[in-house]
This record gives sequence, C-alpha cells and structure tokens, in this order.
Amino acid sequence: MDGNGRWATSRMLPRVAGHIKGVDAVRRMVEACVRRGVEFLTIFAFSSENWRRPAEEVSLLMSLFVTSLEREVAKLHANGIRFRVVGDISRFDQKLQQMIAHAERKTASNERLTLTICANYGGRWDIMQAINKMAELNPGKIDFSESDLAPHLSLAYAPEPDLFIRTGGEQRISNFLLWQLAYTELYFTETHWPDFDAPALDAAIASYRQRERRFGRTSDQLVAK
Ligand code: IPE
Ligand code: MG
Repeated sequence: MDGNGRWATSRMLPRVAGHIKGVDAVRRMVEACVRRGVEFLTIFAFSSENWRRPAEEVSLLMSLFVTSLEREVAKLHANGIRFRVVGDISRFDQKLQQMIAHAERKTASNERLTLTICANYGGRWDIMQAINKMAELNPGKIDFSESDLAPHLSLAYAPEPDLFIRTGGEQRISNFLLWQLAYTELYFTETHWPDFDAPALDAAIASYRQRERRFGRTSDQLVAK
C-alpha cells in the first residue's frame, strides 16, 4: 500500500493524515476481499527500510499500529478473520509485540480470510532467516532444495499469491515477497492507497482475469489441458 504520504501532501495535510486514511483503506479492503471470497490478503505495512524515515513518522506509524490493533482485533475475530504478522517484530516495543501475539492467538482458528500484515518485513530478510533455520536443522548438509527451504519462509502457511497489487504509481517490488512472487501476476495502479476501494480492487481482479498464467508452458499446452 503506497501513496499515503502523497495523498496527504496533495491535500495540504500532514503525512500522518494519509496514514490514518490508509488504515481505513485496509479495513475496506479486508471487507471487500471477504465479500469476494478471497482467502489470503497480505499487506505490506512497514518495510525493514522504513526505519530510515524521520523518527517522528516512524513513531506515528507504530502508534497507529497499536491503536488499529486495539480497535480492530475483536471485529476481525467476529468476522472469522485469521490475523498474522510476519517480519522481524523483535524490534518493536514490548507492548506492540504482546498485542500482536495476543491477536494471532485469538484469531488462530478462524478460516474465512487470513489477513497477514508484513511489518519490519523484507523479502531478503525472509529468505535469509529461512536459510538460517534450514541450516540449523540440518547440520553439515550442503545440498538443499527449494522444498527444504519453503517451510521455513515466514508465509509458509499461505499459498503463493495469485495477484500482487501496488498502489501509488511506482512500478517496483521494493523487497516485498521476493520468493513467493516468482509466478504472481503483477498489477500497478496510480491510485494512492487511501483512495484504493472496492471498484479499484475489481479493476485489478479484471486485469488479472485477462492474464494467461502459463507457468513456463506454451499457450497451446494450456488449451490442451
Ligand atoms: C505507504 O505510503 C505507507 C507506508 C510505507 C507505511 P507512503 O508513506 O510510502 O506514501 P508516499 O509514497 O510518501 O506517498
Ligand atoms: Mg511510498
């Protein structure tokens, strides 16, 4: 979800106003995904590089995370949503870490939609932490396969994504799910995240539906199948 800052600046508002609107957009998107039968929604909320922002903005984002958890977790649970956070949360303050653990525990057996928030997350970080776990479990082993690594990735509980959406006009991955996006359909939109609504989601899904996912095969092979 990109473009919160620009959404605010273009309205002569402080950047934080864009982040606050951004939380509303997340709530709206969770609802829209539930209604459309989406089973996994993964949101890049805070990257491992976002610590480089001014301290004031970082601390505002952290308190927004705390208040959103306080306000939303019960509702998520009531709506059958399983909540997960992936990323190196050890850098967050104790209170936030406890709130995350509590929210994950409370919603663990929900099955309607899994909402994953990537926080202090980076795709390279994820691959490296998985390699380290895999190596630790297999002392002396050197010849690993993809399937040895996959279970240690932080999103091992979710299927690889079908559709990636980046709002805000930038056309890059910015260290999001590097491993998992190998065959994901990419969709970029100029719409800033606070303006991304259900019709905007439908436009992304419509674009996705026009794609032919060949996974390395030819078009003819897919038809034959
Ligand atoms: C994305 O919006 C939200 C976070 C990274 C937390 P930005 O804050 O990156 O918005 P722009 O790119 O400055 O418009
Ligand atoms: Mg940005």
